[in-house]
Amino acid sequence: MAKDAKSKAAKPAKAQAADKSKKSAKSAAVHDHPAADCALTTGVAGHDDVESRSESLSKFEAELNKREVDLIEREIKSLRQQEELDRLRPLSGLYRVVRAMASERRLDSLLDVITRETQVMLKCDRCSVFVLDAQASELWTQVAQGLVGHRMIRIPVGGNSIVAECARTGRMINIPDAYQDPRFDPAVDRNTGYQTSSVLCVPMLARGGEVIGVFQVLNKFDGPFTNEDEDWLEGLTAVAAGLIEQAQAYGEIERFVDKTLETLAQTIDQRDPLTAGHSIRVTNYSLLVGQAMNVPDDDIDVLRYSAMMHDYGKIGVPEKILWKDGRLTPEEYATVQKHASITYDLLSNLPFTRRLQDVPFVASCHHEKVDGSGYYRGLKGEDIPFLSRIIAVADVFDALTSKRHYRNRMPIEKVSEIMYSGRDNHFDSTCVDAFFQLPSARVIAVLESERERAANFDAELFKNLSWQRLVELVSGGHPKRGEEGIAEVFDGIYNAGLPADYQSLD
Ligand SMILES: [Fe+2]
Repeated sequence: MAKDAKSKAAKPAKAQAADKSKKSAKSAAVHDHPAADCALTTGVAGHDDVESRSESLSKFEAELNKREVDLIEREIKSLRQQEELDRLRPLSGLYRVVRAMASERRLDSLLDVITRETQVMLKCDRCSVFVLDAQASELWTQVAQGLVGHRMIRIPVGGNSIVAECARTGRMINIPDAYQDPRFDPAVDRNTGYQTSSVLCVPMLARGGEVIGVFQVLNKFDGPFTNEDEDWLEGLTAVAAGLIEQAQAYGEIERFVDKTLETLAQTIDQRDPLTAGHSIRVTNYSLLVGQAMNVPDDDIDVLRYSAMMHDYGKIGVPEKILWKDGRLTPEEYATVQKHASITYDLLSNLPFTRRLQDVPFVASCHHEKVDGSGYYRGLKGEDIPFLSRIIAVADVFDALTSKRHYRNRMPIEKVSEIMYSGRDNHFDSTCVDAFFQLPSARVIAVLESERERAANFDAELFKNLSWQRLVELVSGGHPKRGEEGIAEVFDGIYNAGLPADYQSLD
């Protein structure tokens, strides 16, 4: 006893507490059990006759059965719920695809949703959408899950691969184990570090029936791809094919419109050899400024088309005025000014899409001035579209740096003086400042784009120089280390082909 008491006392308080907690847990476990309940009841009451025990056992058995039945029912319910979830998974995936199609227009984002949902619906590891480049006779990955960064896989249509075979035959291919199939090229795995097992490829068909790509899914998590997987992938592939075909058709239309507008602009520029390339250069300067000022993508397109077409109204100005040597009379100048309103009238007849609907107005405002003294509407400040204010800077810069019938190319210092003095009266100062902050190499590339010597100019030399700094150097600014001789090189480029003794008429 004493020993026991001693040993109990010797046990640390923490250990005693642990013992106590073990005991109470044990006791709780005993009480939790229905059989224990019965035994205790009989023990406490002191009845040990067989009948009473048998009654208790029956009760216990009934209780046990009830609990077992409950448990089994719960299991069945959970299995049914799982089955229901599995059955609904493809449908909910399809719902998300349809919802994305209703709200998203960008092909890349849509294909991203489709491949992600396909991965979940088919319980597989990776999905890739290959698009056929018929000219190059290659299939390239428009979407490829698992490829890091902007890596792209290109597969020759004539080569030995499952995707190429699918594109060539226009038939679905379902392979349970790629390494057992002679069409599988293990080099693909070696290049990507991936381990392919099961493969399912479905050809993407255009409305005319021709193959435009392949939808490939890899490595189903539980066994090979099933017939049901094939059906789902066929459906999703049809959706992806429709979207790609639509995007390709849209791209073709955009390229057609782009080229048509460029050609129309050139027909105006080329009426006079001295203005050849003016519209393209104004477009390129405008885009440089627009990008530097973070103009959104959709507005960049409006800027491009507006800049390209800004002088289209010159088609309505007689050549004898456009080509006149020397200064224009006030009447002739008034006739030239009409080109802005003619630009608006002509462009308004073109069925621009909603995204480009501002082009006629933006293009026709390129001679407006922020102080309201411009033409042809006499708009002021922010009433002039921001994109037109960019075009105004680009247009004047190009006009001053180009040879005209009535003057030679203006010295660059003077051009800068005119541009700076136009801040906040003619021009929006933020646009002028953005222009002067452009990298000089980019400005020179546009400036000299129509001249043969442009190809020889050493862009590397001007790489770290803003246009503003270049003008400072050309105007006699002291060159810092690494800037020596740059002003002379620029002079050589800018004045090449001009008479050394030319006099500016401005
Ligand atoms: Fe103009």
